[in-house]
Amino acid sequence: MSKPPGKPKTGEIEVLYASAEIAHRVAELATEIAREMGPEILIVAILKGGFVFAADLVRALHLAGVRPQIDFMMLASYGKSKESSGEVRVLRDVTDDVAGREILVIDDILDSGRTLAFAKQSLLDRGAGSVRLCILLDKRDRRAAAVDAEFVGFACPDRFVVGYGLDFANYHRELPYIGALPEDEAQDDAKGET
Ligand code: IMP
Ligand code: MG
Repeated sequence: MSKPPGKPKTGEIEVLYASAEIAHRVAELATEIAREMGPEILIVAILKGGFVFAADLVRALHLAGVRPQIDFMMLASYGKSKESSGEVRVLRDVTDDVAGREILVIDDILDSGRTLAFAKQSLLDRGAGSVRLCILLDKRDRRAAAVDAEFVGFACPDRFVVGYGLDFANYHRELPYIGALPEDEAQDDAKGET
């Protein structure tokens, strides 16, 4: 079968977090979130990258006794290579009323932090009661914006990672594990949708 146009070549993807390890951590995070936030929360999942993590986490939250309402924001941050530019655009905004709500934003990864700093401020500007961030991966060393997540799955090495919602050129999101691309293949992902 021929490759779809533009599909990046894929050498060995080095598995960093296997799916069983992710599932275990997701259940732990749900317990922490339930304890600290209580049952009545509004979840805002960030598209595209947060969709797999959010789908697993909301079901774990159910088992932990949380009754979330769920909404989505689709954000794009443009920049060359692996660096986001700081310009974040809203491609799809929340439709629920956020005023006075206790909000949990769920996303795949905190890198420079610009995307989630923007999302958080945008919800606070509209009167959210509180906004907490839950991310699966934290590339703490690369932070440029003053933002931190209250709930973090794993500290992530400074490698370009894919799978479990994370993409390279919108590929690899379907992988059930998280892996690192070979260094020579991870050079040029102009970001677009997060
Ligand atoms: P930030 O605004 O620099 O924090 O960028 C966050 C977004 O960049 C994430 O939501 C991802 O879409 C993307 N991103 C950052 N690092 C990686 C990575 O290693 N693999 C895939 N996407 C990444
Ligand atoms: Mg992306």
